[in-house]
Parts: sequence; C-alpha cells; structure tokens
Amino acid sequence: METQLIQAQKIEAIGKLAGGIAHNFNNMLTVVLGYVEILLNNQNSNYDTSEPLNEIQTAALKSKDLTSQLLAFSKNQPLEPNVLNINTIIRNTEKILHQLIGENIEFITMLNDKLGNIVADLSQIEQVIIYLAINVRDSMPNGGKLIIETNNTNLDKYFAMNHLSFSPGHYIILSITDTGHGMDKETKSKIFEPFFTTKDNNRGTGLGLSSVYGTIKQSNGYIYCYSELDKGTTFKIYLPRTDAVPISNVKEKIIQNSRNGNEHILIVEDDSTLRNLFKKMFEKLNYKITIAANGNDALLLIEKNGIKPVLILTDIVMPEISGIELVKHLQTILPDVKILFMFRYSDTGIMQDNKIDLIASFIQKPFNIHDLTTKIDELLQKN
Ligand SMILES: Nc1ncnc2c1ncn2[C@@H]1O[C@H](COP(=O)(O)OP(=O)(O)OP(=O)(O)O)[C@@H](O)[C@H]1O
Ligand SMILES: [Mg+2]
Repeated sequence: METQLIQAQKIEAIGKLAGGIAHNFNNMLTVVLGYVEILLNNQNSNYDTSEPLNEIQTAALKSKDLTSQLLAFSKNQPLEPNVLNINTIIRNTEKILHQLIGENIEFITMLNDKLGNIVADLSQIEQVIIYLAINVRDSMPNGGKLIIETNNTNLDKYFAMNHLSFSPGHYIILSITDTGHGMDKETKSKIFEPFFTTKDNNRGTGLGLSSVYGTIKQSNGYIYCYSELDKGTTFKIYLPRTDAVPISNVKEKIIQNSRNGNEHILIVEDDSTLRNLFKKMFEKLNYKITIAANGNDALLLIEKNGIKPVLILTDIVMPEISGIELVKHLQTILPDVKILFMFRYSDTGIMQDNKIDLIASFIQKPFNIHDLTTKIDELLQKN
C-alpha cells in the first residue's frame, strides 16, 4: 500500500507539473496567436505593427524564462562552472538586491572574510540569490529584516545521518533569513514543487524555489528551509568547498572588427521553419551563407561542390547523419573549419557522451540575432 501511495503521489506531482506548464504556455500562446491574427487581418492597411510585435516578443521572452526555470528544476541547464567566492557575488549584487527589496526592508550582511571558494555557475548562483530575495520581499509587505550570512563549515557523519543523502565534507553555508510572515508545515512541505505558489495568479508562478533547488542540486549542494509562522524564514544552502582560487571574474571580450564581412557560413538545419528563419536572420548581416537541410546535403556541398565554409552552424540531432557525425567526418577534409552547434536542452546528454565540448562551441536554442552574431564573431576571431 505504501508503494501504491508513493506511486499515486508521483503521478499527482507529474499531473500538477504538466498542468502548470500547459496553463502558462497557453496564456503566452493566446497572446501570440491573438496578435498574429490581428497582424494577418491588417496586412494591406497602414496598420501600425509595432505594438503587436512588441507584445509577441514579450510573450515569447516570458516563455523562454519559463523554460529556463523548468530546465533549472530538471537539473538540465548547460553549466559554465568556475571557481567563485559567494562573498564577491553578494557584494556585486548588493545594489540590485537593495533596489529589489525596497526601502522599508533593512538589509544586513554578515560575511565571513575567510570564506572558502566553490565551483559553480556564476549567473545561476546570482539567480538563486535573487529568487530568494524576491520571496523575502513578498513575505514582508510591511518591512522587516533580510539577513545574508556566509560561513565555512565541516559536516561530519552525524550531520549526514540526520540529513538524507548528505555527503560529509567541507562546505560553505549561505543563509538567507527574513523576519516575514513565515510558513506553516503544510506550505513548507511543498515549496520546492514546481508551480506551487500561495501567491495569487499574477504575482507568482511557483517556479522560483523549484529552480533554486535544481541549481543547488546540480552544483552538488543542499538546501534546507526552516520557517515559523508569523516569525520568519531561513534558507540554508550548503555548497562544497574547493581549494582552487577564482580566476579574474571579468570575462575579457576583446572583439576587434577584423572580419572582412563576407565570411562563408554553412548552416545545417533539418527543420524547414528554422531554415527559413535563418535565411531571414542572415539577410541583413555581412556573411555569405549556404543552407543545407541535413548532414548528407552538407557533405555533398563540401565534397562534390567544393564549397569552403569558414564556419559551420549545425543542429546536433538530425536524421541519418547527426551534427556530431558530420563534424567528425569533416575533421580531415576541413581541419580548420570552426564549428558552432545549436542545441536544445535535451541534447546535453548526447553532448556529454560524445565529449564534443572539446572541439566546438555551442549556442542554445532559442537564441536571438544578437547572441548568434556575437558568438559567430567571437569564433571567427579565434585562431
Ligand atoms: N521567505 C519566504 N517566506 C514565506 N514564504 C515563502 C518564502 N519563500 C517562499 N515562500 C513560500 O513558498 C512558495 C513558493 O515559492 P516560489 O519562489 O517557488 O514561488 P512564488 O514566489 O510563489 O512564485 P515565483 O517565484 O515563480 O514568482 C511561495 O508562494 C510562498 O508561499
Ligand atoms: Mg518566488
């Protein structure tokens, strides 16, 4: 009976997740389809298209945020791990946090100067702090205190015994405490579930803490919540400590404009809608492009027609010849060609299995023209 109960709870959780996704995407799609219809009906008049286009863009961007939060929860985000110090991150986000929580919340930091370093993805850790701070703000509409504290800790077997699946070792603790309305037991037991929210429809999606949870797990850490109704809440995050030191946080992006403006790019994409989109995207940019519908076409173009692209922008999963096979095949024919893989989150497993991160660069779908050209130009500058 216990097994049956667990099974039933699992199915219920999946149902809630599917329902949440469907509900949120339906809202966004209603906006997109509604405005597209308006645009189609007004094609030949002097109708001002800017508002519908802006609304469509906003809805699509919101959907993109939603997918990235869901990916965080499913621990499927592409990671860019670096050696980081949480104190530095907190100091750098302090300004944003102040603006976020407003003036009637007192913001106190107690940072241990000797705090150890961690290995994690900077933008994701920033995201974690911001999601937690937003919840703190919402829990104290009439003001209160937000206390952020950092410390080193060594966790022993005893601690591990009382905390499910905890490995003993050296950790840093980041704790975030508020003096807000707190939670009852029932609420607390559900906070990490995706789409669980006690906020009304327009104020909360219920994805903040589930993506925080996913990010912390993906960084080999743990998160615990302690809360008392009407008193306040503390979130404690444990992340494994490393002896490595951070390299300069500033990513130097020196992009000289040494492109001659007619670089030949071969695009390999099996989805015809996307091929059309790429054609349009590249029309106004200074590249020469050839588009192939699959790996075989791409090989024909190179081997028989003798085209010599400097860069290949290719999908990973395609029927017959995958992007990975294509690239492996080309290593002897075009040893110097630069490769940029377009991937969906579901491709990350394949990428790891094939260790292709060593030979190529990546851009995650969906991307915009700016991201794409920045990535392409970065690659073209590299020797
Ligand atoms: N600091 C806190 N104090 C009191 N309750 C909290 C706190 N943090 C989270 N909660 C409770 O946990 C629920 C889930 O939080 P979560 O961040 O996942 O979603 P949300 O804030 O409701 O929506 P979203 O973050 O997607 O905008 C909240 O609705 C709230 O009931
Ligand atoms: Mg939230």
